[in-house]
Parts: sequence; C-alpha cells; structure tokens
Amino acid sequence: MTLTQDLSTNASTNIAPVQHPLEPLTAAEVQAAVAIVRAEKAVGDAFRFPCVMLNEPPKSTVLNFQAGDAVEREAFLILLDNATGATYEAIVSLSGATVKSWKQMPQMQPNIMADELAECETAVKAHPEFQAAMAKRGISDLDLVVVDPWAIGNFGFEDEVGLRLSRCLCYLRATADGNFYARPIDGVVPVVDLNKMQVLRIEDIGVVAVPPEPSEYAARFMPSLRQDIKPLHITQPEGPSFEVDGHFVRWQKWQFRIGFTPREGLVLYTIGYEDQGRVRSILYRASMAEMVVPYGDPRPQHFRKNAFDLGEHGVGMLANSLTLGCDCLGEIRYFDAVLTNSRGEVAVTQNAVCMHEEDYGILWKHTDWRLDEAEVRRSRRLAVSFIATVDNYEYGFFWYFYQDGTIQYEVKLTGILLCGALGDAPKYGTVVAPELNALNHQHFFCMRLDFDLDGAKNSIYEVNTAAEPMGAENPYGNAFYAELTLLPSEQAAQRIVDPFTARYWKVVNPNVQNRLGQSVGFKLAPGENVLPFAHPDSPILQRAGFMTKHLWVTPYEASERYPAGDYPNQHPGGEGLPQWTQANRSIENTDLVVWYTFGHHHIPRPEDFPIMPTAYAGFLLKPVGFFDANPALDVPPSPPKPSCH
Ligand code: NI
Repeated sequence: MTLTQDLSTNASTNIAPVQHPLEPLTAAEVQAAVAIVRAEKAVGDAFRFPCVMLNEPPKSTVLNFQAGDAVEREAFLILLDNATGATYEAIVSLSGATVKSWKQMPQMQPNIMADELAECETAVKAHPEFQAAMAKRGISDLDLVVVDPWAIGNFGFEDEVGLRLSRCLCYLRATADGNFYARPIDGVVPVVDLNKMQVLRIEDIGVVAVPPEPSEYAARFMPSLRQDIKPLHITQPEGPSFEVDGHFVRWQKWQFRIGFTPREGLVLYTIGYEDQGRVRSILYRASMAEMVVPYGDPRPQHFRKNAFDLGEHGVGMLANSLTLGCDCLGEIRYFDAVLTNSRGEVAVTQNAVCMHEEDYGILWKHTDWRLDEAEVRRSRRLAVSFIATVDNYEYGFFWYFYQDGTIQYEVKLTGILLCGALGDAPKYGTVVAPELNALNHQHFFCMRLDFDLDGAKNSIYEVNTAAEPMGAENPYGNAFYAELTLLPSEQAAQRIVDPFTARYWKVVNPNVQNRLGQSVGFKLAPGENVLPFAHPDSPILQRAGFMTKHLWVTPYEASERYPAGDYPNQHPGGEGLPQWTQANRSIENTDLVVWYTFGHHHIPRPEDFPIMPTAYAGFLLKPVGFFDANPALDVPPSPPKPSCH
C-alpha cells in the first residue's frame, strides 16, 4: 500500500533533526525540499518530480562524523516540465532552506513515473483510433483491455527525437479479474507523447488472434489445492538477534546502514565486521546500479523490448509494500520507503524493506571418530531485501550476511513471462500455451560496490588457476596453482568470467597485512553468468555497453553512479562505464569501485508459465586473508534438543 500523505506545505522550518548524515530523507524533509524548489524556482503545475532523494554527503563527511555532530541535509531532485519537455536537476539545502544548485539537463529524459503509466493507459483507451483498432478485432469491452506502457528505447528514428514517449503493449483479460499477461493483443502498439499525454500514433501491424486460454494462477482459480502440507513454524521466543537504531543495523559482528532511493531501491552503507574488538570496514556503499532485460524477438511489435528497470523506471519506486504479502518467516523488521508521487507529494511505501534471520544449515562440522566426538555449528544468516514488480516480472533483491564474514547478493526472479502471440516466429521463444510464445530474453544486473577494505586505498587482482606443465618439477602431472594478476588500470580491469580457470577477482588493501603477512582481501566469486547475445552494433549494446563485461573497476568518483549513464531513458547510448573508463585511470592502491554485472539467461520453459517458479542469480563476497582464521570459531554450539520422533 502506498500512502500519499497530506502534510502541511510549510514544513521547512520545523524539520526534526536526523541522527546521521546517511539517514534517508524523512517525509518532512521530502516535503520541505519540494516546497523550497517550488517557491524559489516558480515551479508550477506542469512540473513532475521523477526523483526526490537524499543528496548523499561527501564520503569524508560521513567517515569523520561523530555522534551528536550537526548534520547538513541536502536533497537531490529531478524535475520535468511537461509544458516544455525540459528536465532540471536541483540540489536543495534543507538546513539553509534554499536551492543550492539548479541546472537544465538538455536532451535528457528522466525515468517514467507510476502516475504516467496510469494516465497513459487512460489516454490510450479514450482514443478513437485505438477503440477502432479494438473493434476491428471484435473487442468491444474496453474494461477487459489492459494497456501496459513501456519505455520506447532509442533506435535512431528521427521522428522520436526530443519527444517524451512510451510504447504500449496491449492485453485482453479473459475475465474481469483474470491474468492479462497470458493474452496479448499482439498487433496493436499505441505510442504516446507523455508530456502532452496524447496518443501520437497507433501502430497496427495486423490482426493476430488473442491466445485463447485464460492461464490463471491465483488461488481463487485453482480447482483444488494440495492437502498434505503440515505446519512448519519458525519461532524466535526471545526475539531477533539484531539491533536497529534509525537505519543503523547491528547483527552479531556485522554492522551497516540501510538506505533507499527511488532508482536503486535498497542501498547499504558502511558495511563493517567487528574483529577482535574493532569494527573493520569492508564496503562504503553497495547497491544494484542498473538492470537491463533485452528480449530476443526481431518482429516489429517486439524488437524494442529491453527495459532498463532502474534508469527508465526505478525499482525503488516499484517496490512492493510487504503489508500486502510477505512470506518471510521468523521475527521480521520492516523499513518504510519515503518516496514521492510524480507531483512531488510524499508517498510512503510501507514495509518496503524486510530484514530477518534465517537458519542456513551447517556452518561448520567435524567428527573425530577416534575421540567419538562431533563439533557442529548451525549457520545463521541475516537477510535484508526488497521486492519490485516491474510490469510482468517480480524481482526480489536480497543481501545475506553470514557469520563467517561472507556476504551474498541474490536476485530472485519470479512473476509472469513476457509473451507474444505465436504468429510465424516461434524460433525466438518457447510455446507455453496454445498460440502463446514466451520470448527469449536475458536479465543483466550491474552492481556498484564501493570497497573500503580496512581503509579507502585498495587494489584488485584477477585470480586464475593454472595447471603446471608436466616435467621435472611436476613428474606426475597433478600440480596446479592460483596465479594472481594485478589489474592496474580501468581498461585492464574490463574482464569476463572464465569457469575453466575458476576465475575470481580479489580486492585487497596492500597497506594492511594479516598475521601471515598476506594483504587483507575479499574475493568476488561469480555465480551463474552469461554475455549478451545482442550484436555489438545493436542499439541496446550502445545504450547498455556495461553488459559486455562482467567486471569493470573505476577509481571512486562521487558523480559516477549509474553504469549506463544518469538518463538512459530514450538515450542513444555511450554513457556511463564505457565512457568513463576511456580515461584509463589508475585503480592501484586507490579508492576503487568494483562494478560487477551478472546475467541470467532465460529460454522459457512451459513450467515457467503461467507464473514462474523463482529462479536465482547472484554472487558472493568472501573474505580471503581478511581474517587470521575462520572468524566463526566463537559461534556457540546449539543447545541440545530432544531427539526427533
Ligand atoms: Ni526471465
């Protein structure tokens, strides 16, 4: 549930102070920021607010902050003037109640907002040409028709330059509460000018039969449900093991801060682990920074499908309120997300972030049969997550913290496949129901990981395992070894995975050694990955060039936040990582940022339909010589339990 709050319009004078510079903007601060910019820049009713968020203070301010220090607060805003089509960026000083910076961003289209989606659908359905296109197909009840606006992309068409456009996919529900994604109206593509909220054209590619089956998944449609599941209870009678103060979290030896932005959703700051009485920093800031889903069907109604779910839409704005449905077990702590609607009014997504503990099997074990003794520890992990619904798809974005110092990031993919009518090109998809073709596609997630291992100055190595040639020193041919290669510059650090050399990348602090004299480090261990199948000259690879490498490393620069640039919506491309790294800056013994892209390849299965069982993709960050030994030796044994019956 999203609550639009009606707060007083003159809140800038009585904002409650926050405890830390990285606390997300409060509702009062969001409201004050909008009021200040409206007043000072004569922002009228034609303006929308695609983004209102904390303008993060400089890293040095955060790292030098002491409890009780005064906190300078700033908001960053993107504004769109529907009357002129102009985009602006503003930085508002909340402490000074003034607009500190105001600039127009020529040629830039901000992300599409939720209000625009609803207004766009209404505009299309009211348009006579659209109604005629429906009538031509024998569709008279427009209440059953769903118009799903998508980003239009940039394919070099002259007549689209300078306009703010959406391209809509159309569906027909079998019943008023049915699953519309199973029933595309495939030949009709309305194109809408979102500034004027007017239909620009209705592309009618020809009448294609709507796939016949309703393909429902909701419980109310199931003829029967299985009856043999007995209750399974997770109880934490003494409560959870974490402590929360504002957005600061401590859990066992871990600590970090939770943030949330409309574009990235969950952000984690200042992740550290307490080791021998002191907190050691690992990451200054970690988030998913872009996500792109290129589809593989070349037909006219499908070739434009490649959503930038962050830069074009904003997964934070699309975050689920888990009041509607959260299936986590145990003692849950939720965090709200303070966002805005497109008119700059405060909109709170309640329970957007979910945090809880999970039992995760065996942490470590050994049985000494000579002593007749087993030592075993249960693994406990802390999950911090949010879930976004991006049109048909659901993405769960999960961080896991483990007792042995491991951090895991995992995306859980579920929801409904994007389908087209079968037509004459089943080659680029999988038939999942009569006349229904689920399109081949890939999901690419790009993480921005600002490492600060025991301080800001870090370096990165690639580690490949090599076989020793047979010879005098390897007479039986069994020898193999890990080979470390320093990646000294941005271009040397543009790398892809190689499972056959067991490749991983290791961030180290060359200035800090463990008790064995090794530089303290963390490795990025890739999981499942893939490269794009789009052609190097394709528009999508121009726009999302970051997908062509799994690893990029840059020196820290506060303004370099999004790997496909700040404004990928309708942008021709070239921005972000491919552009920044042309400078080939040094990344050795410096404050570096690791960008890791992982792809999930999806040739659909009939079993992914009508709703997809969760698929998983992600990676691990594991300490390598960061600690002197297994840091989880002090985890106590579980209390003895009565034996199973
Ligand atoms: Ni998929």
